[in-house]
Amino acid sequence: MNLKYTYQLREPVQALMNESSRINSFKMQKYWYPLSIATYDVEEILSAIDSLCSFRTTMWEKTIEFERQFAHEVGCSEAIMVNSGSSADLLIAFALVNPTNKSLNPGDEILVPSVTWPTQIWSPMMAGLKVRFVDTDPNSLNMDLNDLEAKISSNTRAISLVHLMGNPCNMDRVLSICQKNNLILIEDCCEALGAAFKGKAVGTFGLAGSFSFFFSHHITTMEGGMIICNDQQLSDLFRLLRAHGWARNTKYIKTAPETGIDPMYMFLNWGFNVRPSELQAGFGLEQLRRLPAFHAQRVANVSYFQRYLNNHSEIMHLMKVLPDADCSWFALPIMLTPECPFEKQSLLTHLEEQGVETRPIVAGNLTKQPVCKLYPELQEGNLPGSDAIHDRGFYLGLHPFEATKNLDRLADIFEQFIRKHT
Ligand SMILES: Cc1ncc(COP(=O)(O)O)c(C=O)c1O
Repeated sequence: MNLKYTYQLREPVQALMNESSRINSFKMQKYWYPLSIATYDVEEILSAIDSLCSFRTTMWEKTIEFERQFAHEVGCSEAIMVNSGSSADLLIAFALVNPTNKSLNPGDEILVPSVTWPTQIWSPMMAGLKVRFVDTDPNSLNMDLNDLEAKISSNTRAISLVHLMGNPCNMDRVLSICQKNNLILIEDCCEALGAAFKGKAVGTFGLAGSFSFFFSHHITTMEGGMIICNDQQLSDLFRLLRAHGWARNTKYIKTAPETGIDPMYMFLNWGFNVRPSELQAGFGLEQLRRLPAFHAQRVANVSYFQRYLNNHSEIMHLMKVLPDADCSWFALPIMLTPECPFEKQSLLTHLEEQGVETRPIVAGNLTKQPVCKLYPELQEGNLPGSDAIHDRGFYLGLHPFEATKNLDRLADIFEQFIRKHT
């Protein structure tokens, strides 16, 4: 940060921050346990003021530095910041079919998870790929790898994996499936920053990985996202796709082709404009410093609540994590067991009435969403695991702050309901 007067600003800014609004200002009246709590502090705001006062609001040195530090954090060579996780997914899909890359051709089939955030599915569709849903394991909330193997056909060229709720997939098995069938792998890690399998960060197993920094995610840049990869040429393609196809944004291409075109306005490819602002990158730098403490606190909160849920394992449980996986818990995803004697909806109504915000496990079984009627390729009949998640799964917030009192209160609210209904 360049600003000499940040010290003078710190106190007035701090005074303006209403700490009770941190529990989500506009919902504060309704929920004492909301889905998300603001995790940024005075440093992020001062960094944004610094960018504004130095008239550097579009991508500049903070973006470059955030990309560098992010790549270091996850252990890859390239990181390209964009304005959302969905944009990261979109650029990855468009890179796969780009004429300069040609990993895939339009019309090729890509297998996708049936429980995820929908833009992971829309992205390959928009890039002209044919998506096919794979079922989801109701224990791990990740792709059912038996169904994945069963769905591979002579048309299949790629897999788009998701590490839902921060839970790493079994990457030994996924990589062996990809190798055996000669498939390209891409990873959506938008809910999984900080997660690893056998010590290797998610997002580094395939050709490219996407991350989201939306308000409620592991770190926030307000809105924002990142693509990671280990290939310089591919990273330049992402930079072109990020900003108009404009040569100026590449990192490794040093000499412009001999065309007589002014290099300042030379276009090497097509592209979108999904650039982040410098203010977002400044947020990212501050948030990245907080990530280890956030992670440790989330893990501690999960273990604390897990102890309560262990008393009721015949009725409900958290998602299951593999022994080799380091889960970066995104939330508290809970599955009711098939033996559970009450309806999910009656429990959710009770929680909501008691001021606890609830959500389905992302979009549930995606094939049940109204949008799927519009596109024939989004219809896939037999997805029993996804149905189980749709019918018996939900999640609650998980906040990266000390929360034992809140979790005790949450456990009491569950207990009231369970006593009445079992
Ligand atoms: C699995 C997954 N993929 C993609 C996205 C899209 O990220 P964004 O909201 O930043 O566009 C999300 C967002 O929550 C997500 O959970």
